[in-house]
Amino acid sequence: MRSGINPHIPIMVKEVIQYLQISKNGTYIDCTIGYGGHARHILERLSLDGKLIGIDKDEKAIKYCKKSLSAYNNIQLFHNSYHKIKDVLSISKIQKVDGMLLDLGLSSAQLDSKSRGFSYKIDSELDMRFDLSQKFKAYDLLNIKSKKDIADIIFKYSNERRSRSIANNIFKMRPIKNVFELVEAIRKSTPPRNRYKTLARVFQAIRILVNNELNILENFLSEFCNQLSVGGRIVFISFHSLEDRIVKHALKDLSFKKKIKILTKRPMSPSQEENDLNKRSRSAKLRAAERIS
Ligand SMILES: C[S@@+](CC[C@H](N)C(=O)[O-])C[C@H]1O[C@@H](n2cnc3c(N)ncnc32)[C@H](O)[C@@H]1O
Repeated sequence: MRSGINPHIPIMVKEVIQYLQISKNGTYIDCTIGYGGHARHILERLSLDGKLIGIDKDEKAIKYCKKSLSAYNNIQLFHNSYHKIKDVLSISKIQKVDGMLLDLGLSSAQLDSKSRGFSYKIDSELDMRFDLSQKFKAYDLLNIKSKKDIADIIFKYSNERRSRSIANNIFKMRPIKNVFELVEAIRKSTPPRNRYKTLARVFQAIRILVNNELNILENFLSEFCNQLSVGGRIVFISFHSLEDRIVKHALKDLSFKKKIKILTKRPMSPSQEENDLNKRSRSAKLRAAERIS
C-alpha cells in the first residue's frame, strides 16, 4: 500500500464512538480492524491502562495496522476470524471486554485491489478470499460446483431472479478464469438497464459464500455475550440486508432473554453529508446494544 493514500475511509465514526462510550482504562476489541480507521479513534481515547485488541482475516490489513498504529503501545493485533474471539482473548489473558466493534464486509483497499477479484470493474484472478491462507477461492466455486449449486448460491445470497440463467452461462463458459469472463457470463443474462445492480449483487453473493460470512456472523452472535462485560457495548455496521437481518434478529432474541438492551430502535444510517463525502457509506446500517445481565 503506497504511503499517503488512505486505503479506507472509516464509516460513521462519530456514532461508533458515541455508542461504544469509551472509558479511558477500558478494554475494547475491533473484530474487523481493516485499515485501522475506527481503531485509531478508539486508541486516541484510551490511556496507557486501556487496551485495544484488533482482529482481521486479512493478513495484509494486519500488516498495515502493525505499521500505521505502531505509535500505540496498547494495541494487540491478530490474524484470525472474529468468531474465534474467545481464543484470541485467551491468548491475551483477557476474559471480558468493555466494547466490541464489527464493521462488516470489505475494505476499500480490498475492493480496489488489482489482484483480489472483489470488484466486477477490475479484471483479475477470481479470488475473493479475505484470508489469503484459505484454499477455497471464487474460481473453485465457479468451476467445481454444479450448475444447480451455483444458481442456488446466487439466489440465496443476492435474491437475483436471473440466477438460473447466470449459472447456465457460467456453466457453458467454464473454465471461468478471471473477473471479466464472469462479467461476460452475467452480461449475457441481463438487460443493460439492470446490469450494474446485478453485477454487484452476484459478486457479493459469491464473496459471501467464499468467506462463509453469514455462518461466521451467526456463530459470533450466539457467543459474544460471554466475552462482553455487563455494561459493555457492541456496535455493528452492516452493508446488506442479509447481514443486517441476522444482526437484528439475534439482538432481538438476546433482548427478549434480558441479556442485552438494544440502543438503536431502528438501524442508523450515515448522514447525507457523509454519503456525499464517501459514496461507499451509502448502504451502511449501524446497530448497537449494551449487555445488561
Ligand atoms: C469494512 S472493513 C473494516 C474497516 C475498518 N473498520 C477501518 O476503519 O479501517 C471490513 C474488514 O473485515 C475483515 N473481515 C471480514 N470477515 C472477517 C472475519 N470473519 N474475521 C475478521 N475479519 C474479517 C475484512 O478483511 C476487512 O478488512
